[in-house]
Amino acid sequence: MTVIQKIAVIGSGTMGGGIAISALSGGLKTVLVDTSDASLEQAQARVHKYFDRQVSKERMSAQDRENALSCLQVSTVLSAASDADLVVEAVFEDLDIKKSVFSQLEQVVSRTCHLATNTSALRVSEIASALEYPDRFCGLHYFSPAEVNPVVEVVRSDMTQGSTVTATLSFLGTCRKIPIECKDQSGFALNRFFCPYTNEAARCIDDGLGTPAQIDDVAKQVLGVPVGPFFVMNIVKPRINLAAIRNLAHLGPFYEPARSMSAIGDADASWEISDAPATLGASARQVITDRLLGAIFFAVKQELAEEVATAGAIDLGACRAFGFAKGPVEMMRDLGADAVNTLISSVTANVSVSH
Ligand SMILES: NC(=O)c1ccc[n+]([C@@H]2O[C@H](COP(=O)([O-])OP(=O)(O)OC[C@H]3O[C@@H](n4cnc5c(N)ncnc54)[C@H](O)[C@@H]3O)[C@@H](O)[C@H]2O)c1
Repeated sequence: MTVIQKIAVIGSGTMGGGIAISALSGGLKTVLVDTSDASLEQAQARVHKYFDRQVSKERMSAQDRENALSCLQVSTVLSAASDADLVVEAVFEDLDIKKSVFSQLEQVVSRTCHLATNTSALRVSEIASALEYPDRFCGLHYFSPAEVNPVVEVVRSDMTQGSTVTATLSFLGTCRKIPIECKDQSGFALNRFFCPYTNEAARCIDDGLGTPAQIDDVAKQVLGVPVGPFFVMNIVKPRINLAAIRNLAHLGPFYEPARSMSAIGDADASWEISDAPATLGASARQVITDRLLGAIFFAVKQELAEEVATAGAIDLGACRAFGFAKGPVEMMRDLGADAVNTLISSVTANVSVSH
């Protein structure tokens, strides 16, 4: 097995910068490659700021910061990745650009180098079609901010070889990340239910059940999450969340974007979340609770049936990536099949789906 000692991160934007910080924190030599000098400069400033803060918060010594910073290299040319053991690509979400990056990369890296994409919505196997050796390729899907969120989905296509999975799992272990292994399906293991949850929250708005602040409040109580779905969407950006939901729409009518979700996302706007929402009546709270849970359970039941990921992986990811107090599979087990089916009916009643 190749031991990952040096990684290259292609694309130094929101995700690439965070992935580089995570690798440097694990003590790995890291080269950041971007076609834009401005993006590389911004990423370098972000890396410095992150490690300065670690020192000022007494989470690391000044010497360790120097050691981490000395492991960083930046470049505008792909050939800087030539001696990497693993390359993680985080360029724009565009199939042609990603395919072109990987076919150029194969010309510069060694045959033993593993390759990974941080795509959120494209099929790993489709990107792999650009490669001469697609067996060395997998998805490594980080959650933003990648230097903070501990979860990374390890996405295996039908062509991914076991040694690539083993090497990337070991790399993630070095960076103290929590791997969630899953299949190459739309939404992978976690966005498969998290996107429908945010979408159902928007459907509750469309149905006049509450305001974003009121629905966030219900979600916090029901799921034990630190922040509600509208708050999360505003951080991720509604436009990006809408793109992730549209990526699931081919799975059936339940997954199609809510009216308000499309309106806010397409306008590149944010949800208005008031500071002190008026208290909701008990019955409205109950309806919102049922619908948020129903949406999560519907999607999780489907992905379990499709064997996208194990129950344990889905629950671990929900708790560690999104801050759920309890994983959805455990919640379903606690509630029992009849109660779960009733909750699912509360969301599928308006869309023609079978479950
Ligand atoms: N932003 C998120 O929350 C998030 C979360 C998970 C996954 N992702 C995925 O990560 C990837 C990157 O997203 P982002 O938000 O960091 O984007 P971004 O726009 O912030 O950064 C992309 C970077 O790639 C660079 N780039 C473009 N083409 C390049 C090329 N040919 N060679 C080298 N560099 C190139 C750009 O200059 C830019 O700096 C996308 O596939 C996205 O879907 C994003």
